[in-house]
Amino acid sequence: MSISSFGVRHPSLEPGRIGGLELANRLAVSPMTRVSAAPDGTPTQEMADYYAELARGGFGLVITEGTYTDTLYSQGYLNQPGIVSKAQVAAWRETTDRVHAAGAPIVLQLMHAGALSQGSHYRKDTAGPSAVPPLGEKMPEYGGHGRWATPREMSPADIEEAVRGFVISAVNAREAGFDGIEVHGANGYLLDQFLTDYTNRRDDSYGGPIANRVRLAAEVVAAIRAEVGPSFCVGIRLSQTKVNDFGHRWPGGAHDAEVVFTALADAGATYLHIASEGRDWIETARLAGGATITGLARRVSGLPVIANGGMHEPSQAAQVLADGHADVLSVGRWALANPDLPRRLAEGAALEDFDHMMVQPMATLDNTRRWRAAGARAGV
Ligand SMILES: Cc1cc2nc3c(=O)[nH]c(=O)nc-3n(C[C@H](O)[C@H](O)[C@H](O)COP(=O)(O)O)c2cc1C
Repeated sequence: MSISSFGVRHPSLEPGRIGGLELANRLAVSPMTRVSAAPDGTPTQEMADYYAELARGGFGLVITEGTYTDTLYSQGYLNQPGIVSKAQVAAWRETTDRVHAAGAPIVLQLMHAGALSQGSHYRKDTAGPSAVPPLGEKMPEYGGHGRWATPREMSPADIEEAVRGFVISAVNAREAGFDGIEVHGANGYLLDQFLTDYTNRRDDSYGGPIANRVRLAAEVVAAIRAEVGPSFCVGIRLSQTKVNDFGHRWPGGAHDAEVVFTALADAGATYLHIASEGRDWIETARLAGGATITGLARRVSGLPVIANGGMHEPSQAAQVLADGHADVLSVGRWALANPDLPRRLAEGAALEDFDHMMVQPMATLDNTRRWRAAGARAGV
């Protein structure tokens, strides 16, 4: 069943709110790396076109791809956009203006790749919480191949620089016209490396029990909040799974989740976005005893929660909202196949299926355009 064949008006089409942001509906574009910026990290006209198309398609909130935050260790992939230089800030204006003209708010995802950096304009080596080689291999769809390098253990000075990069980038994002930022604390990147027991072997105040392992993420949120004031939207994305470990679950279950959500709410986060990299929400969200991690996040933090993972599936999407597991749903792959997904849903039109070939051999905008053109030529 496609989302649009849902009998009554789908609950995701109801208006929503995240902090001070009014949302026309509860459907957000999930952050998706498109490795389509210029080699120096400057966003392009093509990227502005892509985000504007999603806003015109009716999404209540657009969240951008992970964007790097300093010229030290944060960049994850070649052709990833940054928000650090004057040229990058100026070029993002085109995207924010176009998305606003189409009526949607837009939030910039701020990302430090840490040990999972597989391409950088600035350096060859990587840095992370501990000198632990990452699991798995680099991702070809973002231009990588082979094993990851073993990162250098970050010193207290490195950690301070990383926090500073997040803060400056948040200020830059506001200057570029974004309505908020989302700190990328999910999917195995730097802040998640600190959160994770097997990548964080530190014996200082950032390592050991979960209350210490969440410290860096909380410090980043608090430092941004202190700089941007109370009204700017400062979300954070978290996940149990990772791009290089779909099976990971927080070892302390609900206890770990409560410590993490409380720390981030206390730090001043506006919302929590719980991702499901490589898996459906239903597989990653269930906790022992029948609760869900997104429902727990809402209850513990009192903040709006965005749920992710297979939310193009209509009955799951409806259930997540109706049963109070989340406030907003983010859609990734099916938004690529249906940039106008909310409009289709409202009109009862059928959805296109996501085809993995849309993002092959790399997840660039150009490859998706080629895939569409080939489909049009074939009369599909
Ligand atoms: C091409 C692609 C790029 C992605 N890049 C990011 C990213 O930059 N930041 C992030 O947090 N998640 C990223 N993700 C994960 C998605 O945001 C989302 O969590 C995942 O696709 C599951 O949601 P879905 O079932 O709606 O696709 C990416 C996913 C895809 C398919």
